[in-house]
Amino acid sequence: MAYGLGIESSCDETSIAIVRDGKELISLKVYSQIDSHSPYRGVVPEIASRAHLEKINTLLAVSMEEAGLSYSDLDYVAVTSYPGLVGSLMIGAQLARCISLVFGIPIVAVNHLEAHLAVIGLERELPPFPWLGVLLSGGNSSIYLYRGFGDLQILADTQDDSLGEAFDKVSAVLNLPYPGGPYLEAKADSYQPTNGEPNPFPKLLKEDGEDRIRFSYSGLKTAVLYFLKANATEPPVEKISYYFQKTAFELVTRNIRKAIQKTGIRTVVAAGGVLANGTLRENLEKEKERSRFDLFYPGKKIYCTDNGAMVACLGYYLWKQKSVVGLDFKVSPKRNFEQII
Ligand code: KG4
Repeated sequence: MAYGLGIESSCDETSIAIVRDGKELISLKVYSQIDSHSPYRGVVPEIASRAHLEKINTLLAVSMEEAGLSYSDLDYVAVTSYPGLVGSLMIGAQLARCISLVFGIPIVAVNHLEAHLAVIGLERELPPFPWLGVLLSGGNSSIYLYRGFGDLQILADTQDDSLGEAFDKVSAVLNLPYPGGPYLEAKADSYQPTNGEPNPFPKLLKEDGEDRIRFSYSGLKTAVLYFLKANATEPPVEKISYYFQKTAFELVTRNIRKAIQKTGIRTVVAAGGVLANGTLRENLEKEKERSRFDLFYPGKKIYCTDNGAMVACLGYYLWKQKSVVGLDFKVSPKRNFEQII
């Protein structure tokens, strides 16, 4: 039996988790900094690293107590080392170094994006590799070729805004609270389109052929702005939200279809904060039936947003294959993947 500690501090969530054998959650604590960042409608790096520093030791103590473990029971300490805000990553990294130094426990340095995908291992047996990893979050709209633990390559990326960023920016112009995703989703859910009603927003990247797979949401953002200007007296917030989602998610399913066609890989794992969206989940399920592939995504919404459990989970598999690092390991804001397409 192996116990692993997971430390996540890459952005605006401070989180600690303890996981047994990579698949059983023993304890998960998440402190969300949303209230500190919302006056600025975005993450302020200096505020983020200070908040991590203030909270992380308490979360660790509470989590260890809940698990009923002592530090010497831990087999590894997994910590997010990239990508993320460097000042924030350093808080988690220092904690991992400290535990490692004092108790002689090996450190596993984890890729945050890979951890988002591997977290499905806490809810089910992991499907065999290779996977197409679809990451839709505040910082990413990307599809990865995931061939094995530690072996992730980018297949398709965004040209501009990520999907989560687009949700957050559009919700800002609609005067919805930050972060906008869940609020915009609620508005969209309350809209009932009339029969045959046209979508006021154009199809995204319609000029791209079957071979070109990429994301871009800045055009949709601009289309929303123009539509809003034209309807300034009584902005139809629910209608805009509904068609924003419809248009944005159509690009996601189209890109998955193309990626399957291009690679022949029929195992799709989707993850990231935007996967908390119910309509997106429904659209992916429909696409799965249409294009016939195996689809996996975190069932629990807490596994969609940043959390330490995903770090501890991926950390287990990396630890098993002896991918451990020394105390001098580095943190980085970069994704560091090779661009293959
Ligand atoms: O993965 P994540 O927690 O962290 C970052 O990448 O920072 O993703 C956060 C993003 C935000 O942009 C937020 O608006 C979006 O996920 N999000 C959603 C929903 N819940 C969170 N977007 C659409 N629908 C939701 N229900």
